[in-house]
Amino acid sequence: MAKRRIGVLTGGGDTTALNATLKGIALGAEKHNIELIGFMEGWAGVLSPDTEHPTWGRYFKLTSDMILANRGGTILGSSRTNLLKIDGGLEQAIDNLKSLDISGLIPIGGDDTLTVGSTLAEHVTTTFVTKTIDNDVGTNASENGPIDYDAMLNYFCPGFPTAAVRTAQFAADLRTTAYSHHRIILLESMGRDAGWLALSGAYGYADIVLIPEIPWDPERVAQVVERVYREQGYVIVVASEGLRYPDGRRLSEIEATGDTFRATKAGGCSEKIAAILKDRLAKPLKTEAFNHIIPSYLCRCGSPIPVDRDLAISLGRAAVDAIVAEQIKYVATVMRAGDKLHAKLVPMDKVLPRDDKDKVIPRELDTRFYDVAKLNISDAGLEYFRPILGERASAYRLPTMEIGQFTAR
Ligand code: F6P
Repeated sequence: MAKRRIGVLTGGGDTTALNATLKGIALGAEKHNIELIGFMEGWAGVLSPDTEHPTWGRYFKLTSDMILANRGGTILGSSRTNLLKIDGGLEQAIDNLKSLDISGLIPIGGDDTLTVGSTLAEHVTTTFVTKTIDNDVGTNASENGPIDYDAMLNYFCPGFPTAAVRTAQFAADLRTTAYSHHRIILLESMGRDAGWLALSGAYGYADIVLIPEIPWDPERVAQVVERVYREQGYVIVVASEGLRYPDGRRLSEIEATGDTFRATKAGGCSEKIAAILKDRLAKPLKTEAFNHIIPSYLCRCGSPIPVDRDLAISLGRAAVDAIVAEQIKYVATVMRAGDKLHAKLVPMDKVLPRDDKDKVIPRELDTRFYDVAKLNISDAGLEYFRPILGERASAYRLPTMEIGQFTAR
């Protein structure tokens, strides 16, 4: 009897843990004696499997020895191809999968890729694994009563822990230069719809964190920046690229080239905020040193940290187990149990809430993790990060330099 065949693809922005998930899927497939087909460049590979690719072809047999779990990016490449926006795209993809004898598909992606996947799942056996440094796929714990961290469905999305560590490190490292030059530095984090990644800057003791879930209030932000500057002589602000005005518009957007899901993407708010703060505060604080930094892909590239890599491998294995057990429309999900994190299969509808057009709704940052008065992380937020990043290191202390006075401590 011919071996069973399943397919896998990676769509959307790359993360450091995609290859680790692929490794888990390949190991799972080998355990169950299943042939694994990797489609190149997300949904583009499924749409036109016969199109020639410069190196690989649009699909190929993927085995575990081909995949390095410690290497970031994705061996399958990625794209932001929206099958649902291409005339006859969905039907073509279903036909292609049938003619290749693919009896199960595992799309790995964020809200866009999984929106397409959840529609395809009506026709083809499909199980999902999430990924996104934005950490915005899943559902939060109930708002009633104390926060039940164990009830979060998808405690984190693979790729997020590594990006969070990087963001925290950038915030911590920028202190020395901010201190040395009395600078007010705006560090812009990715996260087009949610503030999870920006909040991780608090792990590196950012003085202020600005998230899309709390509308931009220049008055209030300038107040806090001024106070902190007078206290310590420099300020680190982490601003999410998704930051919004009270009417819901983003502070800044740029063209999204090569993305068939949207025409514009978030980006550039840190420059805008630096200019606004300079306008308001240059005079009273007697400084022109307002800067902005956009690390961008530096948070997505390189190798995954161990917790990211290891959970991603477990999720990949779990996704294959689901296909074998005919648990269709399931998501391999990260769950917390006490201080530990593990992979669990959860029905799609519980993990991927969808709107009336069937689009997966991005998960906002749970605002209980944010202290609006401090414009910074709350104790509940620190508790969220603890099992992922460990205890927050003790504060990174520099002497304080009050205006007109130097006090070393
Ligand atoms: O979706 C993940 C993400 O990292 C967003 O935070 C960001 O806006 C977007 O990708 C940008 O990615 P690209 O430049 O690849 O379109």
